[in-house]
Amino acid sequence: MVCARPNGLSTRQIRRQDGKGLDLAAARTGHWRMVDFPDVADPALYRTDGWRAPFERLRREDPVHFHPESPYGPYWSVSRYADIMAVELDPATYSSASELGGIQIADQPRGQELPNFIRMDPPRHTAQRKTVAPIVAPSNLANMEGLIRERTASVLDGLPRGETFDWADRVSTELTAMMLATLFDFPQAERRKLTWWSDVAIANIAAEDAVVKSDAARMAELRQMAETMAALWKERAGRPPTFDLISMMAHGEATRAMPLNEFIGNFALLIVGGNDTTRNSMTGGLIAALANPGEIARVRADPDLLPSLVSEVIRWQTPVIHMRRTTTRDAELAGRKIRKGDKVVMWYVSGNRDEAAIEDAEAFRVGRPRARHHLSFGAGIHRCVGDRLAELQLRILWEEMLARDLEVEIAGPPVRLYSNFIRGIRSLPVRINPS
Ligand code: HEM
Repeated sequence: MVCARPNGLSTRQIRRQDGKGLDLAAARTGHWRMVDFPDVADPALYRTDGWRAPFERLRREDPVHFHPESPYGPYWSVSRYADIMAVELDPATYSSASELGGIQIADQPRGQELPNFIRMDPPRHTAQRKTVAPIVAPSNLANMEGLIRERTASVLDGLPRGETFDWADRVSTELTAMMLATLFDFPQAERRKLTWWSDVAIANIAAEDAVVKSDAARMAELRQMAETMAALWKERAGRPPTFDLISMMAHGEATRAMPLNEFIGNFALLIVGGNDTTRNSMTGGLIAALANPGEIARVRADPDLLPSLVSEVIRWQTPVIHMRRTTTRDAELAGRKIRKGDKVVMWYVSGNRDEAAIEDAEAFRVGRPRARHHLSFGAGIHRCVGDRLAELQLRILWEEMLARDLEVEIAGPPVRLYSNFIRGIRSLPVRINPS
């Protein structure tokens, strides 16, 4: 790609001048085209698991990079750990507000925005987050541990031996759907509806195997979700508060009078938050573990390493690929001038592979000294509210798998999600060898 510049130099000439492919003078003013960097927002990169090399180059050559053109419009790519943290920790400059564009690189279709508290800035964000946070407080997690273990054991014991089955469906989706139904006090028999709505909410309608093919079809499905949830909401609002997410929101001062689109948005947030991320860590973790048997042998020999295995799985998988912010004022990041109103994308997948922050970041390694030092849960005021619950679910899954000494082998390639937002695995054929 060669394009002319006002100073008369082609980008190729500029590239030769600074040796890095950057027009630094122009870049300092904010908005200039860089040469030859792939668009890391292309969902195909994640479908093929081919994102490592482009990000490695971005981190090295242009860590805060302006992409002037993309199907999502112009945007800044933030690819280093430290720069992502700087954005996360300055929400007054880098806004999550739905009105400015929200938290995904793709803007929501106009008139169909679904605001929810991840797409809000303080003070509304603070109040709504506070309403639901107690469900994942340490005391409640301790109450839920026995139930999670019982269910995990029964799912593992019910798996076929000596025949191929889909781990993503039979283990990861099943366990997370059960958990979500518990959090909402939603009928367990209908728990897969929650999975379906989560899949619908994050579907990339351009994917050939998308579960919905248009934004209108997505909205129609989510309206059904709203109707189902509204019925439960009405019933819970009419009786004394109980300890589930629907009752908490129906009685919470900051949430009880939400408009319909915010109501749908908040349910979609909690369903996607509790479902997609944890389930993909369950599948991705198995892939990583089977590729690194020596690491699992270390955990078997020293169970104290289990929490670090869980954190490493979550770092390794990085189930949320990016979060987006929009600048509320001119800003400077790593020496680059970002203008008010610009779209800024934090690539967690890249920050989690940044050697400057994580030693030997490409390796899957248990026992890292600061195992929770990763970006998979984000940071700052929007840091994942369900992080401890996700870690608990994964810890129990691994404890129960190790206790059974399951000999699992991969029986075919994983099918990955066509998405630049969720690093998902739709299916993973495996076999458990009979003991
Ligand atoms: C491995 C599992 C999980 C991962 C990797 C994950 C990742 C994330 C990330 C990256 C964010 C945004 C952070 C930021 O903007 O700085 C987030 C926010 C959130 N997550 Fe999770 N999550 C997981 C599990 C869960 C679970 C189990 C729940 C629900 C029970 C949940 C509910 C939420 C909610 C409600 C938010 C919005 C928080 C806010 O805006 O204040 N997540 N999560």
